[in-house]
Amino acid sequence: MVAAIRVVDHPLVRTKLAALRISTTPAREFRMLLEDLGMLLTYEASWNLEVCDATITTPIAVTKGATLSQRIGLVPILRAGIGMLNGALHVFPDAQVWHLGVYRDEHRLVPVEYYNRLPQTPTVDRCFILDPMLATGGSAVAATDVLKRWGICHIHFIGVIGSPEGVYRLSQHHPDVAITLAAIDDHLNDSGFIVPGLGDAGDRQFGTGIYACPRPIE
Ligand code: PRP
Repeated sequence: MVAAIRVVDHPLVRTKLAALRISTTPAREFRMLLEDLGMLLTYEASWNLEVCDATITTPIAVTKGATLSQRIGLVPILRAGIGMLNGALHVFPDAQVWHLGVYRDEHRLVPVEYYNRLPQTPTVDRCFILDPMLATGGSAVAATDVLKRWGICHIHFIGVIGSPEGVYRLSQHHPDVAITLAAIDDHLNDSGFIVPGLGDAGDRQFGTGIYACPRPIE
């Protein structure tokens, strides 16, 4: 199986992404852009959802309609994925939201899981993972592992920027997971940042910058 990888080339996505990348974009605008991209990318990622036929009544007549046949779970990866959540909720207002906490150890560039309160058995049929950055791919692979262990078969990763290395890693580990992105950038630098990228999406949306110093919960 080969992972379905889609880069959304819509003019709104391209222009909002360009504004997001600019280093002087303030946090308040960064959050708005990320929310918009969360909505646009979630819409694009949901084109092949299964629907059931339904009979509906308009003020004029009875006619045919459709309803979604699967329960949707939105899974923002803390912290940065939070910025995409409200946008995704505009697309799926009835979705369940399951937060997963994963940060990347900045020295070893490996994912560290620190938050997971999933119930024992799955309560949704299809999950959309939300995380703006797919760098080494370690966090996305770890989050997908968690969801698969939970029992979810249909998983879709929605990100804003991916690196070639991250896309390759996620698609190698989980070829059944579709990937939707706004861009695949050039490469990862020695510090594991995507180039040209946009910097640290968590710090930029929350204004934490150099003050952020993540620690696992003991
Ligand atoms: C960033 C990003 C992803 C991860 C990507 O989070 O939001 O979760 O790194 O890197 P990877 O593909 O190499 O795993 P970060 O660790 O900065 O945590 P934060 O969201 O709390 O800022």
